[in-house]
Amino acid sequence: MMHNLLVTGGAGFIGANFVLYWRKKYPDQRIVVLDALTYAGNPESLAEVRHDSGFSFIQGDIRDSSLVEKILIDHDIDTIVHFAAESHVDRSIHGPDLFLDTNINGTHVLLRSARRIWLKGEGRSHRFHHVSTDEVYGSLGPHDPPFTEKTPYAPNSPYSASKAASDHLVRAYHHTYGLQVTTSNCSNNYGPFQFPEKLIPLILINILENQPLPIYGDGLNIRDWLYVEDHCRGIDLVLQQGRVGEVYNLGGVNEWTNLNIVRLICGLLDERFESSPELGPRFPNSPAACGKASASLITFVTDRPGHDRRYAIDAEKCRTELGYIPKESFESGIQKTVDWYLNHEEWWRRIVDGSYRDWLKKQYGT
Ligand code: NAD
Ligand code: DAU
Repeated sequence: MMHNLLVTGGAGFIGANFVLYWRKKYPDQRIVVLDALTYAGNPESLAEVRHDSGFSFIQGDIRDSSLVEKILIDHDIDTIVHFAAESHVDRSIHGPDLFLDTNINGTHVLLRSARRIWLKGEGRSHRFHHVSTDEVYGSLGPHDPPFTEKTPYAPNSPYSASKAASDHLVRAYHHTYGLQVTTSNCSNNYGPFQFPEKLIPLILINILENQPLPIYGDGLNIRDWLYVEDHCRGIDLVLQQGRVGEVYNLGGVNEWTNLNIVRLICGLLDERFESSPELGPRFPNSPAACGKASASLITFVTDRPGHDRRYAIDAEKCRTELGYIPKESFESGIQKTVDWYLNHEEWWRRIVDGSYRDWLKKQYGT
């Protein structure tokens, strides 16, 4: 199975990493990316595969039913891997409407279109994989066991509530109509191409730019971090070996407080500036270029409303059923991530200085 994939949200952080991973591993399979190119979408992240014969990029909205159905038919799609979403918790607090519309209605349009096309007549072999989050399970206390696939849903932000609703729709389309679905609920990802509003790239870039490093509340909230390529491998395993109708939790078994993550990144950059003399002239305002500690930029700020205290994933089901074990250690993953942002200044500079949209228009006519 799986010859023609539709990847929604493939110009976003995880979607782009997934497309690059998939093209490398299965070069003979065809991929269509459907992405609306919201503020978070960046076709430049897909530059490496842009001209491949098995790759197509379509700028469009998952809420556009006729477009989605046309793509399913024209490209003979048998597999949907659904990443497209509004993904940032802080934005969902300031403006929930778009989150409900994209994450709930958008997912429903995809499900309804898939049902119409794939289950027509005798039907065809197919798979709808839904990419979701550990945030649907709510917040853990310090000694609670990690989330399993059986943990009751208790979403706390408009973002996680919208993702929870989409998970339920996916489940319902399987139960009611027999759509062949799988869902994965993953913990916090980090790695290349992450939009610099999320903690790790934000901190990295703010250090280079001599900007404050905002720590919400006391900084002791805990997240379970997974290198993005390991998330992609996990989805691959679920697609190949996962049981239809099942949910799989993916995580790094790698819990860190925010404060410790920020201190770690500060220390790594201080070391890099010391060992690589060319960094000082490239980022002359960075504290490390002036002999100061990056950690001097740490600034405690007002907490995120409703801020979940702790997330942690129990990845046992994936381990025993699919043989899934993350490959990247946190030590190596975070080093790779620091290197990637240092080596791809042009990628993030255009976003940070606001020239990105104009540049996109010139490059891609979009
Ligand atoms: P992202 O914000 O970086 O990318 C989202 C992509 O979706 C963008 O390219 C955007 O243009 C596209 N998009 C948004 N609305 C669209 C629409 N209406 N139609 C078509 N495309 C649209 O997000 P991400 O961090 O890559 O997350 C991808 C998925 O993984 C999301 O569903 C998210 O809930 C889930 N997830 C993320 C994490 C994480 O740590 N980032 C962890 C677990 C699960
Ligand atoms: O758990 C998976 C989720 O991880 C995904 O579903 C979301 O799409 C993704 O955005 C991420 O959500 P978080 O809210 O955990 O990620 P974020 O990078 O926004 O924040 C990580 C932690 O750092 C969180 O506890 C809030 C804190 N934080 C964040 C920012 C942006 C700060 O202290 N300061 C900041 O400036």
